[in-house]
Amino acid sequence: ERGSRLSKVPNMERKMKRRLGQSPEKERKMPVGIQIKSLNDVKEGRDSRAKMPSMAESQQPNCNISFKHNRNNNNKPNSFARRQKILEHRKSLPIASVERRLVEVVQENDVLIIVGETGSGKTTQIPQYLFDSGFCHDGKTIGVTQPRRVAAVTVAKRVAEECGVELGQKVGYSIRFEDVTSSSTRIKYMTDGLLLREALLDPYLSRYSVIVVDEAHERTVHTDVLLGLLKRVQNVRSNYIKDQTSVGHKRASNGAILEKENADPCIGVLKQCQGRNLSPLKLIIMSASLDAHVFSKYFGGAKAVRVLGRQFPVDVFYTVDPQTDYLDSAIVTIFQIHSEEAPGDILVFLTGQEEIESVEKQIHENLQRLPEDKRNMKTVTIFSSLPSEQQMRVFAPAPAGFRKVILATNIAETSVTIPGIKYVVDPGVVKARSYDPVKGMESLIIVPTSKAQAIQRSGRAGREGPGKCFRLYPESEFEKLEDSTKPEIKRCNLSNVILQLKALGVDDIFGFDFIEKPSRAAIKKSLEELLLLGALTDEFKLSDPVGRQMARLPLDPVYSKALILASQFKCLDEMLIAVAMLSVESIFYEPREKLDEARTAKKCFASSEGDHLTLINVYRTSIELLEKRKSEVGKDKAEKVMRKWCKENFINSRSLRHARDIHSQIRRLVEQIGLCISSCGDDTLQFRRCLAAAFFLNAALKQPDGTYRALASGEVVQIHPTSVLFRTKADCIIFNEFVKTTNKVSPPLLCQAGVAVFIGVLTAKDIDCGFASASRYLLFAFEIRGHDEIIPTMEFKKQ
Ligand code: CDP
Ligand code: MG
Repeated sequence: ERGSRLSKVPNMERKMKRRLGQSPEKERKMPVGIQIKSLNDVKEGRDSRAKMPSMAESQQPNCNISFKHNRNNNNKPNSFARRQKILEHRKSLPIASVERRLVEVVQENDVLIIVGETGSGKTTQIPQYLFDSGFCHDGKTIGVTQPRRVAAVTVAKRVAEECGVELGQKVGYSIRFEDVTSSSTRIKYMTDGLLLREALLDPYLSRYSVIVVDEAHERTVHTDVLLGLLKRVQNVRSNYIKDQTSVGHKRASNGAILEKENADPCIGVLKQCQGRNLSPLKLIIMSASLDAHVFSKYFGGAKAVRVLGRQFPVDVFYTVDPQTDYLDSAIVTIFQIHSEEAPGDILVFLTGQEEIESVEKQIHENLQRLPEDKRNMKTVTIFSSLPSEQQMRVFAPAPAGFRKVILATNIAETSVTIPGIKYVVDPGVVKARSYDPVKGMESLIIVPTSKAQAIQRSGRAGREGPGKCFRLYPESEFEKLEDSTKPEIKRCNLSNVILQLKALGVDDIFGFDFIEKPSRAAIKKSLEELLLLGALTDEFKLSDPVGRQMARLPLDPVYSKALILASQFKCLDEMLIAVAMLSVESIFYEPREKLDEARTAKKCFASSEGDHLTLINVYRTSIELLEKRKSEVGKDKAEKVMRKWCKENFINSRSLRHARDIHSQIRRLVEQIGLCISSCGDDTLQFRRCLAAAFFLNAALKQPDGTYRALASGEVVQIHPTSVLFRTKADCIIFNEFVKTTNKVSPPLLCQAGVAVFIGVLTAKDIDCGFASASRYLLFAFEIRGHDEIIPTMEFKKQ
């Protein structure tokens, strides 16, 4: 039991060994001040700092960060005072002293790489500096991409406040399913994935004068693809300008550029540029890591500068022994810091929403057991699916005399800088994608962080003064960590990005200029998957209308296909709900101490036909209740009733609300692409047929020993205990999630399983319907089992 461990571990100091001397953080104890340095002649090598030419721009004395003073001030400052404070804060940022020089280097270079310590002000300040120096004069926009939704939203809110404007006007943001911009938006924060989508509608990104690719060191698959795309777009736009101005260039009477000798691949695109108001595009790549040479090399030796931030020394502690349960250890450590250390906020790195919510709950329960005067701790959470109105809470100072504990995913590593942190608790793990191109299986697994991540994390404790970082693993483990994280493009399913590249007219995926090429096997597997889904023709061109429609939906290709099929199967109403519910994390929660109650509650919604229909039951029941209460007591009160209902039914109200938002967004999109929304009513067989037709790549057959075998990969799997089909007897199922277990004996687990039905003997008509590919797998299953259709019987047993 977690809470009781608290008293058993009385003193962390005894458990944690203080690191002296050789800590890798030693080198991070950098001089206070700011420098801007050219990185250009930096050669390959991990720590390039020592070899950097010294080109100190200016030195600035150590200045206090103003919002620390807020801490003991409960009165809300009036708006004038707040603006003054913000102004002071902006001026105090390390980057402020090099504003002029930074703007100059941007003006001088088409591509610029800016490396800078987290918290130095890159994300919030640079776009403002560029705006102020006229980069938007011709009505163009500065676009700033972030790998994470939360970062895009919180930074946009902050910058809007700094500029004293309403969010969505001069400063706005746009993320999947949420667009807070207008025609007057000039500084636009967005996710990298969203900018890729924008390119589908505006291939030259003509509304942007500058695009800042932020957090490029994260090397998400979207960042990598975006860099390739931006390189192309920049080329096209500068060639266009050259052609516009070149004397004697051959032009047709309508102004179109005629064939040029040595036509480069851009020429076809160039021809389409006629009539567009295209200006050169400035590219800025920002990164918190020193490996700038990778980006510089990719952009033909582009200039790189470094902005030094402030970094105070951070003492690093390791546990003496390996920890068996890092959540447990994290909670113990939090309380030890609270009782033994000086005031200062604690940042705890966890792997996902579920863990964060469980730790938060445990902290609150532990607090109740402490004497009244020791309960001065406040928890705040930050993770990517947190509803946007709750995201800013993490930045608010704790009430006077309270210690703030921030429970965060690795979003707080570099993307989001939270003031006030003095202690970092780092369990040393992160949730990461992993992909097996042979089996075509992608899964999210919890893996050790890299050394670079561990160092970034501890750095968060030294932003405003000396800090401490508690690593929940022994020192010997640190040495075993990888130096840096492998780019995501090397470990994920590529179907989504390949579909988008195809839609952008990039037909030769193998030849695309990736910053780092994914493996041939992974590209091949994804092309095959898209072919099977009907998104590509036999010549691997985007199919029309299916491929084109799929590319327009901001979903995983297999979900997009499910929606398209559902409109043919006349169950799109159901599939929209299923897809929305599958797009959020953990609808149900099962607290350890109330397991029985939670499972009984779930039974009210459980469908013997699988998790998809169970999720649909939850959604519909909740909507019915919400609508009814809205008409009775109004919107706000109805939401309150909903939260109570969710609590009683062990449903995560945050996730459910998020699913409602996503539902309304995709509903609008499917209407736009002309799909017909209708419900199959009680004919759930129709819905299951559609599931089978859409997710055939994820079909699994029962084996004599009760485990399942995934048809596409041959992998032996079992059903996750949280699935309503756990202990099922269904002969064939389809699944949406695949969880790798660390336990070597038990096979990997499937989540969200639905009972599939065989489509029976496929007729020519079925094949016309677009599931010819499904037949390959399902006929195979059909031959083995010889059933026309299998309807399972369901039993619930108490564990
Ligand atoms: O991008 P970089 O890591 O260099 O820094 P930034 O995100 O621009 O943040 C600069 C400063 O603004 C930090 O000191 C943050 O604490 C502060 N900030 C804030 O107070 N509230 C936000 N929502 C965002 C940033
Ligand atoms: Mg930043």
